[in-house]
Amino acid sequence: MSLSINKIPVCGAGTMGSGIAQVFATNGFNTLLYDVSEEGLAKAKQSIHKNLQSLIQKEKLSEIEARKVLERIQFISDINNLTIDVVIEAIVEKLDVKVELFQKIASYNSDKTILASNTSSLSIEQLANKIDHPERVIGMHFFNPAPLMKLVEVIQCKQTNPAVVNMILELTKKLGKTPVLVNDSPGFIVNRVARHYYLESMKAVEQGFDDIPAIDHLLENVGFKMGPFKLMDLIGMDVNYSVSNIVWESLDKPHRFKPSIIQKNKVDKGELGRKTGKGFYTY
Ligand code: NAI
Repeated sequence: MSLSINKIPVCGAGTMGSGIAQVFATNGFNTLLYDVSEEGLAKAKQSIHKNLQSLIQKEKLSEIEARKVLERIQFISDINNLTIDVVIEAIVEKLDVKVELFQKIASYNSDKTILASNTSSLSIEQLANKIDHPERVIGMHFFNPAPLMKLVEVIQCKQTNPAVVNMILELTKKLGKTPVLVNDSPGFIVNRVARHYYLESMKAVEQGFDDIPAIDHLLENVGFKMGPFKLMDLIGMDVNYSVSNIVWESLDKPHRFKPSIIQKNKVDKGELGRKTGKGFYTY
């Protein structure tokens, strides 16, 4: 399998998809950013533009380079009949919706088209099992914010073809990222271990220590880059809550992984964090 890919579609133009598209375009790939929502596409364009402006101000990117990056991204709301070698999806964290998208893309592409998912917690094996030629399904898990975070978990399941694994490892390196190969398991590595960072912090609040800024401040001062509540606001409450549920259920509901009622209430109220202007903090 060669790496002479000249067109990369990223599906889902939300928090992650827009960042991932920026990463591909910055590294010279002609990128198609697809979303069902025109509003989502407009927001993504704004967000990428803002990120590039901030890099120009910090003198990390020239105006000319920034223009080239933007020119490499096409914002699209239709992927019918799109033929490609590899696709990365970063749409809503729901298995059936991801399956539907992959099946659709697979229907007008060759059996070799690689279907990579940025899922935080869904089983790659379950996803693969629902797709013809499951050996081309793989996890490519970027971290938030994608343009800044170096790590990418590359997730293989029993079905994944080793050639597909190698190709995604190579592609990740071409993006200047650090790929780490992990096996498919609930929450993979980072989201499983990090669950307690969020859950224990919310438990502290549930049990009466409800000074959220103080908890963030304390953890940042022992070396964590971002306190747990600020981080949940950045990730998105709906995404973080959904990951907690998937990991908890996949591990047979152990008490220590039980999702927090505080977070559920935030999701119910639509206080999803930065993306809605309010979460644990107001933006
Ligand atoms: P988001 O809610 O910001 O964006 C999701 C986007 O997908 C929306 O713009 C929505 O319109 C679009 N969408 C929904 N269904 C679609 C479909 N059928 N076809 C095309 N577009 C569709 O979500 P976010 O945070 O970007 O998460 C996306 C994926 O990335 C999820 O699987 C999540 O678990 C994963 N992820 C999220 C991280 C985070 O920190 N938010 C970190 C790493 C992975």
